Amino acid sequence: MKWNLSTFGQQLGSDNGIDSLMQDLGVAMSGTQSYRMLGGGNPAHIPEVEAVWRERWEAIQASPGEVERILGNYDTPQGSPVFLDAMADSLASRYGWPISRENIAVVNGSQSAFFYLLNMFKGRNGTQFSRVLLPLNPEYIGYADQLLAPHAFTSTAPVVELIGDHRFKYHIDFDQLEITPETAAICVSRPTNPTGNVLTDEEMRRLDQLAGEYEIPLIVDNAYGAPFPDIMFSETKPVWTENTILAMSLSKLGLPGTRTGIVVASAEVIRRIGSINAVCGLANGNIGQAIAAPLLSNGLLYELSSEVIRPYYEAKSKQALAWLDQYLPADIPYRIHVSEGALFLWLWLPSLPISSSELYVRLKKRGVLVVSGHYFFYGLPEPHEHQDRCLRLSYALNAEDVEAGIAILADEVSAIHQ
Ligand SMILES: Cc1ncc(COP(=O)(O)O)c(C=O)c1O
Repeated sequence: MKWNLSTFGQQLGSDNGIDSLMQDLGVAMSGTQSYRMLGGGNPAHIPEVEAVWRERWEAIQASPGEVERILGNYDTPQGSPVFLDAMADSLASRYGWPISRENIAVVNGSQSAFFYLLNMFKGRNGTQFSRVLLPLNPEYIGYADQLLAPHAFTSTAPVVELIGDHRFKYHIDFDQLEITPETAAICVSRPTNPTGNVLTDEEMRRLDQLAGEYEIPLIVDNAYGAPFPDIMFSETKPVWTENTILAMSLSKLGLPGTRTGIVVASAEVIRRIGSINAVCGLANGNIGQAIAAPLLSNGLLYELSSEVIRPYYEAKSKQALAWLDQYLPADIPYRIHVSEGALFLWLWLPSLPISSSELYVRLKKRGVLVVSGHYFFYGLPEPHEHQDRCLRLSYALNAEDVEAGIAILADEVSAIHQ
């Protein structure tokens, strides 16, 4: 190509982790090549949940003028007023949060919401350079290339709690957390992608307190959290305070194709997100909003989450953990992060003789897709010992593939160690 690329063009338009993950996912889900799919974060097709989408689809079709309205009109950049009201009212009545339509914005997928939010704020030092603090690493691969100022994430290595012979849990090392005048925001995913960790209520309280003290936002990525899709296996309280920006999504409920992300924030932040929506894309896709709005108002979306979606994934997580314990050779050291939520298991192989990205390549050759752990470590002052020794495994899809994929993984790991 004869043209020079800007920083934006180079950074977002080059090969990056999230692109390669989504390429693998897209190929596997299209059915053009058959893989044991333990890779990207596609949610499961849960028949009971899909029946609800189909029912809504049919109701939309049967309602005079509804199909034409959805397909033929742009919404306002903030989102459809009916959806905004349904979202705000249902959250306010469940949790007593002081919110209304002014506190909700729809975005084309919460991935886009993060692009906006991570670039929206500035540190307090008056310079243009700003950093986003990730209090815990490893953290979601999808943020890694989103900051327009390159290398502007800062993070802290986790405290590693070893549990029994084969489990562990990461905690935030609050003693090492450093908020500087350049820190523009704090961002965490909860449950955490890739590890399945759920930050404790106490960890969240301390982050909220820090955000308040330094007058910066705490951005909480609730893609897997409560109240929907509620892929959390422990009881925790959803929190929204004036320091918090909460990002939610319809994707992991089973509607990723509708690209519907939701931001709950102060009216000022919401106004700005609406404006950015207008600049970047005029308006949002409105099919997801049309499907979900009545289900928010009548509570069905919340019931589905706690009564169907959460138990479904909890059972799958337990099963996948059992298969890992069954298939991984007893004489090879391994640990799995405790599975507290999200769709993934995080496997740590401390004595792996090759890197996790080499293991990814070897597994792909054997028809198994996983995600190499190295993508999830960024912003740290120095490389972390887990960086090349971990894999993220999704347990969301077909059980037969998950078991066969784990068996092949165990076989490969065993062969490599020999
Ligand atoms: C932690 C986390 N945040 C955000 C997203 C973005 O999801 P979406 O854009 O589909 O809402 C994902 C998707 O996998 C995710 O895992």
